[in-house]
Amino acid sequence: MKKIIIAIDGYSSCGKSTFAKAIAAKLGYTFIDSGAMYRAVTLFAIRNEFINPGGSVKKQELIAALPQIHIRLAHSTQSGKSEAFLNDENVEREIRLGEVSDKVSRVSEIGEVRGRMVALQQEMGGQKAIVMDGRDIGTVVFPQAELKIFMTADPVIRAQRRYKELTAKGEPVNLADIEKNIRERDRIDEYRAVSPLRKAADAIVLDNSHLTVEQQMQWVMDLITEKTK
Ligand code: DC
Repeated sequence: MKKIIIAIDGYSSCGKSTFAKAIAAKLGYTFIDSGAMYRAVTLFAIRNEFINPGGSVKKQELIAALPQIHIRLAHSTQSGKSEAFLNDENVEREIRLGEVSDKVSRVSEIGEVRGRMVALQQEMGGQKAIVMDGRDIGTVVFPQAELKIFMTADPVIRAQRRYKELTAKGEPVNLADIEKNIRERDRIDEYRAVSPLRKAADAIVLDNSHLTVEQQMQWVMDLITEKTK
């Protein structure tokens, strides 16, 4: 079977990572969560006080510090998952917390940050046989990807899913705040000047508002069979 690149883009909290991970496991491909990389840069910015109290980023300071930021994603045999490392520290848990989620859109709209992340992602995908999820994978990172999927779902349903996920982890969260954060992230992702969230012309849309992961898998496996012939 031919090895391909599968690019999965779409809105926040659509289940892109869950879907991408399931596809990678089924095919024996490597899953790469590009959002984790932007989250790790955001954590670095928070820790170094490069974010103003109002949420805006001290752009020049962050850009100047970029050479000191080393990000790596590594498969953990303990958790069976890919985990993010910031300067060799495992930050997988911390990058998923609310503070990072609230600020990551502002960091990921900086062109210099994107330039570094895209170069790293392209390097990671050099061998094919990867499933990468993000916002600009099919448009910027791998415009040549053989299969591109653009995921979307009703924001109310996305907020409910996220609420369940966070409460299960014991995080004290509020449903209305989550919905607000999702809508705000959609807006920033879609309207930023550099690499805005766009469906690639050759991407196939998947609205999973009312689909289970199993149903999505059935749908995608037919496409993959076609593309890897
Ligand atoms: O997929 P996620 O929610 O973990 O992504 C976190 C943030 O990073 C999100 O607000 C958008 C940004 N992002 C991006 O701009 N480009 C990507 N390829 C992946 C994520």
